[in-house]
Amino acid sequence: MGWKTLDDINLDGKTVLVRVDINVPVKDGVVTDATRIKRIVPTIKDIQAAGGKPVLMAHFGRPKGKVVPELSLKVTLPALEQAFDQPVIFADETEGKRAGSWINEMNPGDIVLLENLRFHPGEEANDPGFAAELASLGDVYCNDAFSVSHRAHASVEAIAHLLPACAGRLMQAELSALEAALGNPEHPVCAVVGGAKVSTKLDLLGNLVSKVDYMIIGGGMANTFLAAQGVDVGKSLAEHDMKDTALEILVKAKDAGCEIILPTDIVAAREFKENADYEVLPANACPPDAMILDAGPDTVERITDVIESSKTLIMNGPLGVFEMPPFHAATFAMLFDISKQTRAGALVSIAGGGDTVAAINAAGYADDFTYISTAGGAFLEWMEGKTLPGVAALEGA
Ligand code: 3PG
Ligand code: MG
Repeated sequence: MGWKTLDDINLDGKTVLVRVDINVPVKDGVVTDATRIKRIVPTIKDIQAAGGKPVLMAHFGRPKGKVVPELSLKVTLPALEQAFDQPVIFADETEGKRAGSWINEMNPGDIVLLENLRFHPGEEANDPGFAAELASLGDVYCNDAFSVSHRAHASVEAIAHLLPACAGRLMQAELSALEAALGNPEHPVCAVVGGAKVSTKLDLLGNLVSKVDYMIIGGGMANTFLAAQGVDVGKSLAEHDMKDTALEILVKAKDAGCEIILPTDIVAAREFKENADYEVLPANACPPDAMILDAGPDTVERITDVIESSKTLIMNGPLGVFEMPPFHAATFAMLFDISKQTRAGALVSIAGGGDTVAAINAAGYADDFTYISTAGGAFLEWMEGKTLPGVAALEGA
């Protein structure tokens, strides 16, 4: 890995500009899930321990280059202070007081948080001038925001070329976990790919079939594959115009020796609601007025076998409508198998993506996975085999 870590740069007395991802869910002015905040704590503590002064740079939502008061990062302060167990100084820029003056006034041990970088149009434009302005505020740059590293933005990409740059602890952990899953994994490798649409995960499917031994396909995507093979999926969510693409992926998988696991039985209902009446049927027997909402028990049995014979597993997407019981059953059963195998030391399991992490949390297995990524889009792009601009910029530094 061609990038530096916090251990490779002298931080003593230095102001360290740390790009973090604290784009966390907020409801009624309160952070409802502080996972991303908790995960940056080791980086900040290590910078302080090395004598550095951490200045947090982050975005919140998508204000599109304008000041949107509801998207002020101020809302994250209580959660940050709780996680760091100390006060955090908010560089609330005013006419008289710019970010630089807050930073100049920092005492050893202080932590400063800058306001939402996306209030400036230069951030998303990866503007060199804006990056230079940011760089002038500190001595060292640290990227601890893997989950934003698919964005070529000024605080992620351009700034890394302007200061001594390194990866933070969370970035290191994310990259190591992904390397273990797809870079140089122990085979057999199993990928679980779910979600609504094949069209949004084409690159992912194309990249994975040549790297993994098994691919379990679930959710609406599985319906698209079934329909492509001539199965009547009734009123199920499916992209019928993706037929040729789906068939091509099946051929590509066969050529690469990747076994695709699609549902052989299904749970179908006539209403899309919690506890709707349902039937368990063979995959080719969905009634014309019903929709497939989950994989059936025979499919789950096959999935159990696959997980038990795999050494590495990477998961992005649930199998069914896990938010709506009883259509969570296949997803939860699979998560049970993954957690059991991981706890037994037989499986390296890595998961990422908003829906996936929500399913794992709902099932109560968050502590049983080898690694759960904080990233959504960046995790997906990494799985697609794409170069992430934020990571590439560190590699050149
Ligand atoms: C995320 O929440 O996925 C990251 O913070 C990136 O946010 P973005 O999708 O608005 O760039
Ligand atoms: Mg996103």
